Amino acid sequence: MRVVVAITLMLSLFICGKGRAQDITWYKHIAPIIHNNCTPCHRTGEAAPFPLVTYEDVAKRASMIQRVTEARYMPPWKPDSHYVQYANERRLSDEEISMIANWATHDMPKGNAGDAKDKQNFVPGTVYNRPPDLVLKMKESYRLEGDNQDHYIVYKIPFELADSMNVEGVEFITNNRKVIHHANYEIDDVPGMDIYNTADFVDYTNEKVKYFENYVSYRKRIMYFGGWIPGASMESYPEHIGWVMPKRGVILLTVHYAPLGKAEDVLSGIQIWTTKSNITRRIKNESLGSGSESQKQIQPFFYLPPDVVRTFSLDVKIEEDRSLLYVWPHMHLLGQVFKAYAIKPDKDTIPLVYIPVWDFNWQEIYWFPKMVKIPKGSTIHIEATYDNTINNPYNPNLPPALVMENMNTKDEMMTLVIVTLPYKDGDENISLK
Ligand code: HEC
Repeated sequence: MRVVVAITLMLSLFICGKGRAQDITWYKHIAPIIHNNCTPCHRTGEAAPFPLVTYEDVAKRASMIQRVTEARYMPPWKPDSHYVQYANERRLSDEEISMIANWATHDMPKGNAGDAKDKQNFVPGTVYNRPPDLVLKMKESYRLEGDNQDHYIVYKIPFELADSMNVEGVEFITNNRKVIHHANYEIDDVPGMDIYNTADFVDYTNEKVKYFENYVSYRKRIMYFGGWIPGASMESYPEHIGWVMPKRGVILLTVHYAPLGKAEDVLSGIQIWTTKSNITRRIKNESLGSGSESQKQIQPFFYLPPDVVRTFSLDVKIEEDRSLLYVWPHMHLLGQVFKAYAIKPDKDTIPLVYIPVWDFNWQEIYWFPKMVKIPKGSTIHIEATYDNTINNPYNPNLPPALVMENMNTKDEMMTLVIVTLPYKDGDENISLK
């Protein structure tokens, strides 16, 4: 018996590293871990089901928090950190996980408020310590029926500003995150045309309305294209890099809503942070694979017969030196594995993203810590595996059915969005944090 106690004691000393388990307190150790890694989603208005802000919020769920952190289920982070580490990585260290475990199993001591390393009053999380300079939202909130169906709706948000604006950060906003499956938005420069004459929204769920058909006339000058998916954060750029918000135009916001059992109201839009310094280098968002020009080069031809597991690949040549800021892999419910890397002309490879266990609910735009140079003549290689069998618990068709390439959740996609700039000397040293 005494031996067991001694071993347990040694073990807990070993795991905790920094001294006795009882020394681990909320103020000194746990609050900073929670506020940095959990609170951005676990607070009112965000995606998670309950807040993790105050001592009480966390202490009453301590054993559940111990369990989900030890299993690395929370915070959700899907890319393999051994392949690439990103600036926006959400991952606890082994030491942080054992600190939580020790705290949870030793009566969750609160400690001294004087030890608090962070301010405790969590300020909702953007990278800027100031409110946005521009908020543009739908004219009125939209009533979604609880009809257990997917809905696809394009909202038009026209705007006229005093002047154009240099953008250094942009974020999708909504008052009802949990109903949104994903959102895309484009900002179109429409200097002359009437931006008020068409409807404020088009529902293309049931009618065979072609994607954007009603608004196609605006799309000649897309200034920016962005998106939000559950778990995703905002986009921001280093100095002199970004895009320009035109003086007059429209935002076309496409929202895909997940099936709902009861009616809900939603009001969404975007918010923008601007900068006085010139934007001398404009970013380019580009899709590779489904929904882009390179779609037809996917090998083999992209479709998924029932009862198959199949891997596809795509090679896209890069014609000039480019600097890569972000990557955003995208598949739907049959997706299993996603990997992308660049092969340089000298055959060296640059790892871009590897998601060994794809999870549709946790997609994200991944930021490189510093810009990555993709030299002229490189090939971006993408490979993705899909499981259209009954063994895939997320398969939307039971029994499995033929699945083609398209935007709907029940169809499939193989897309890598890359955000790049023409390369300039020294870009490798510019931090994106
Ligand atoms: C990117 C957003 C996000 C972050 C960051 C995040 N969570 Fe969550 N969390 C969620 C969402 C959404 C759910 C509910 C859906 C689910 O369980 O997958 C959830 C569920 C949970 C649950 C309930 C799990 C269950 O089995 O019901 C716990 C406990 C939890 N989170 C703790 C944490 C802790 C602790 C952290 C930080 C170490 C954290 N979360 C970070 C979004 C997040």
